[in-house]
Amino acid sequence: MTLPATHPLSDGRTSGSPLVTTYRGVRGAVTPVWFMRQAGRSLPEYRELRVGTRMLDACLDPELASEITLQPVRRHGVDAAIFFSDIVIPLRLAGVDVEIEPGRGPVLAAPIRTAADVAALPAPSGADFSAISAGVARTVAQLGTTPLIGFAGAPFTLAAYLVEGGPSKDHLRARTMMHADPSAWAALLGWAADVTGRFLRAQILAGASAGQLFDSWVGSLSVADYVERVAPHSAAALASIADLDVPTVHFGVGSGEVLKPMHDIGVDVVGVDWRIPLDVASSRLGGGVVLQGNVDPALLAAPWPVLEAHVLDVLRRGRSAPAHVLNLGHGVPPETDPAVLTRIVELVHAQGEG
Ligand code: CP3
Repeated sequence: MTLPATHPLSDGRTSGSPLVTTYRGVRGAVTPVWFMRQAGRSLPEYRELRVGTRMLDACLDPELASEITLQPVRRHGVDAAIFFSDIVIPLRLAGVDVEIEPGRGPVLAAPIRTAADVAALPAPSGADFSAISAGVARTVAQLGTTPLIGFAGAPFTLAAYLVEGGPSKDHLRARTMMHADPSAWAALLGWAADVTGRFLRAQILAGASAGQLFDSWVGSLSVADYVERVAPHSAAALASIADLDVPTVHFGVGSGEVLKPMHDIGVDVVGVDWRIPLDVASSRLGGGVVLQGNVDPALLAAPWPVLEAHVLDVLRRGRSAPAHVLNLGHGVPPETDPAVLTRIVELVHAQGEG
């Protein structure tokens, strides 16, 4: 299948945008910039809109999700929107009882811990993504030439929530299951890859111009476990959009040891957290891979001259890759002053104009 003729990548709206051309490996005069978790979190206009609506209900309201997605684009002038949703939305839509507790994260009514639990998971084919498609279509209609990034959680990060039943530090139960019951583990990751792949595909078909896979908790895995028991399922999730030829990004936290296998699943761009500089990341990837990142979110609260020097250093090191999209090394902390994000966008864009 190819993208519909009315898709922003097909009709020319976003195919020549700084973000899409950079993701495709062409370095332009200006480095594009957007921020993970730019939608929601630090914006007062987001908090105002969210009053009285639960997080996942907001994600499933096309009008609300679209408005929240557009807020940071209007305010900061970033080079991309990212769809306001959550990695657990496909679980909810498939019929898993999951909620997001404010300040804590995703929590399941019943954790998935045994082969029988895995076998009883609802069929991914039953999930109805029409609210997501409607929210994306509505957003894209208002974005014009600014591309929308669609996203999904990678199977391991989803499994970390499914097995633990909520947020955890080391994902011990999930990593135990991986070895104690390898076939239940493979079935669980296969299920997660299927449902998350459908979520990603729905966003792309409805008008998103790129897809990012978030494997936020990949840093708790050994390299061998990642390569043997996780990466094939991430590849399967990504395969759900392989026929659509949209640029793809793969991001993880604490991923320094697995950058290469994360690229090897077949993505265009690798997202790097703040732990290693971009020139080191680039050389670990052989020098030929487009990078995204990697401003340390902790420095958003530092005095401007400190943050400014750090952003310029990130841009300089990003030149060791064929092309670079400036971003944070992880999501925007909720207490961030939004004016600081706007100032970063202005700084990054000004570098290309001199
Ligand atoms: O701006 C964007 O990046 C788009 C929206 C987005 C959200 N979640 C909205 C959200 C995206 C891309 C995500 C992905 C996501 N969700 C990830 C991967 C990215 C990452 O940051 O590592 C993960 C691990 C989750 C699971 C999740 N959902 C967590 C850990 C939390 C935080 C809990 C908290 O309140 O600190 C959420 C909730 C969540 N997802 C919020 C938002 C805006 C906060 C909810 C609120 O405002 O009430």
